Amino acid sequence: MERLDLVVSGWPDYELLDSGDNRKLERYGKHILIRPETQALWRPSRPELWKKADAEFRFGQEKGEKGGAWRKRTGMPDAWDMSWNSLRFTARLTSFKHTGVFPEQAANWEWIAGRIGSLRGQLKGPPRVLNLFGYTGIASMAAARHGAEVTHCDASKQSNNWAHDNARLSGIERDEDHGGSIRYITDDALKFAEREARRGAVYDGIILDPPAFGRGAKGEVFRIEEHLPKLLDACAKLLARTRPGAFLLLNGYAAGYAPLSLLQAAESSFADIAHGAKGEFGELHIKEKDTKRAVPSGIYSRFMVK
Ligand SMILES: C[S@@+](CC[C@H](N)C(=O)[O-])C[C@H]1O[C@@H](n2cnc3c(N)ncnc32)[C@H](O)[C@@H]1O
Repeated sequence: MERLDLVVSGWPDYELLDSGDNRKLERYGKHILIRPETQALWRPSRPELWKKADAEFRFGQEKGEKGGAWRKRTGMPDAWDMSWNSLRFTARLTSFKHTGVFPEQAANWEWIAGRIGSLRGQLKGPPRVLNLFGYTGIASMAAARHGAEVTHCDASKQSNNWAHDNARLSGIERDEDHGGSIRYITDDALKFAEREARRGAVYDGIILDPPAFGRGAKGEVFRIEEHLPKLLDACAKLLARTRPGAFLLLNGYAAGYAPLSLLQAAESSFADIAHGAKGEFGELHIKEKDTKRAVPSGIYSRFMVK
């Protein structure tokens, strides 16, 4: 496997305008946001731009504020629509600084689209993809848009509703040209993957984006250090391991883990295929619009069967 840091430079609806002083300044569609960014240990290079922000998320500095809150300019909506290529989705100012879009994932959305395209060339039916911890479903849509039959699993009913709305907005349910589809499962990722393995289900691609700590639909605890190996073992049973082009994409945001740790986690559960597979692992970077700087925004490991 090759060490490769993936760099996202933005797209018409997203730009990293500047970063520094533990914050980042980003444009999401028409709106400019300031969000906390622990990686930004440097000084902003365009201080004048920050005055244009429409909203800023700050961690609780005021009495009675738990966690943090958005401060908005008048007229700034709580939700608005954005695009990436032909996909459409709603961005929101959520209560924990997120927007429902992880822009650094654009590098993986492209890769997923490419993998589905090549699998479609060899399979009679649509490629089957499992997306665990699917959140607002942009990765699911990237696969379905190119013709995959996606099973999207998330513990949160609210996230699944948001993902479903995004798919409707993108016209995925009516995608007669490509034949892609998404089914939504509200369940604990580990429980669902183990149940699928017992049923003998097989997927041509598996995407997973586990948090450091999360809770399943019935309060099941997911701790990456305890549950990731089990989850990857279940995924290893689910992947069509003899199919050239079958793929695994493992993402991570958990602070403190190195890309090599994700790679070796995947290699230990997929021991028989990962070593001979074609793949990469590394960091995900978002590049600033007008400088050479980039904000490290996550880690990944991905491979496909040769
Ligand atoms: C890190 S985000 C995933 C980001 C997303 N894949 C993306 O790139 O936009 C974590 C998601 O995992 C879900 N989650 C947390 N614990 C879970 C569990 N035990 N089982 C299933 N989903 C879980 C949360 O509801 C949340 O939607």
